[in-house]
Amino acid sequence: MNIAGRHYRTIFPEPGGHGICVIDQTRLPFAFEIRTLRSAEDAAVAIRTMIVRGAPLIGATAAYGLALALREDASDRGLEEAVRRLAATRPTAINLRWALDRAAALLRPLSPGARAEAALAEAGRIADEDVASCRAIGVHGARLIAEAGARKAGPVNVLTHCNAGWLATVDWGTALAPVYAAHDAGVPVHVFVDETRPRNQGAALTAFELNAHGVPHTVIADNAGGHLMQHGQVDLCLVGSDRTTATGDVCNKIGTYLKALAARDCGVPFYAALPFSTIDWTLADGIAGIPIEERDAREVTHLTGRTDEGALATIAVVSPGSPVANPAFDVTPARLVTGIITERGVAPATPEGLLGLYPERRAAA
Ligand code: MRU
Repeated sequence: MNIAGRHYRTIFPEPGGHGICVIDQTRLPFAFEIRTLRSAEDAAVAIRTMIVRGAPLIGATAAYGLALALREDASDRGLEEAVRRLAATRPTAINLRWALDRAAALLRPLSPGARAEAALAEAGRIADEDVASCRAIGVHGARLIAEAGARKAGPVNVLTHCNAGWLATVDWGTALAPVYAAHDAGVPVHVFVDETRPRNQGAALTAFELNAHGVPHTVIADNAGGHLMQHGQVDLCLVGSDRTTATGDVCNKIGTYLKALAARDCGVPFYAALPFSTIDWTLADGIAGIPIEERDAREVTHLTGRTDEGALATIAVVSPGSPVANPAFDVTPARLVTGIITERGVAPATPEGLLGLYPERRAAA
């Protein structure tokens, strides 16, 4: 995506150096800063502290982190230890495990001396494939937006939750890729952006992206979506996913389920957009099977923002001493999902629907 006239991916090898560059997402939307990861520990910290976040991007970061680890220690033990350490950074998004498994399977048979270079090349392939997948998701999803536009006057109103855009992937995004593709094709589209408490990925990141790309949008409080849907102001909901089961249950940022419930009640189509690396083919029941990350209570009790004078400030917003819970994701059952958009097309959120897109998985099913 372009920021101030320059194209950026969210992760890329340091030009002329040995590090891996990422955009520090904890600084957005008020500062656009590139950080350089120089070790596996740097990569693990970046994932855990959400300098990088979003399911596909943490997968790519873990793959690059493995390459950094193997520069320090490419022995069998070093490889397994780095995989273990990187996999432990965040539990819910399956892309993290997927990227590490894929890279480790390629690297294990190699001699230690060949591993670091091969790992870097494999991380580059994972990143490139993510860009291609997201671009294809954009093409398939944009058709849904164009169809909705053909049925009405005025812009198509999309509601999205959290940030499933360019910043959550290597480029383009999942849920926002169709928005960008439709907008670039001249289809009038407007996005309602859920602020997405507690970390405000919608207000801070999705709004930043849409602003940068010139897509009309409105930031709303998380609780506003149901009301807008009741009043016919949302044509479709479009969200990303951190893990989707083989049966079409969609795990995504906390609060997604409530939007899906409102969408069903109001007859608004609800789509999840995700690349193949987000599908967990081993799971049939997302509610029982997907580990939900519990994050620091401080994300709920405190807010960070910019004062009118331009300084960053963190303030407490919860009555001191009250216990706090902070589950970071929830699961929307497949029955509430109108369809799943992947790089291969759009399918019903059912085992048959997903197998129709990925027939090579039939043998394993
Ligand atoms: O906790 P985060 O910010 O990593 O959560 C991100 C999301 O929930 C996104 O919607 C999801 O990763 C889809 S990414 C394209």
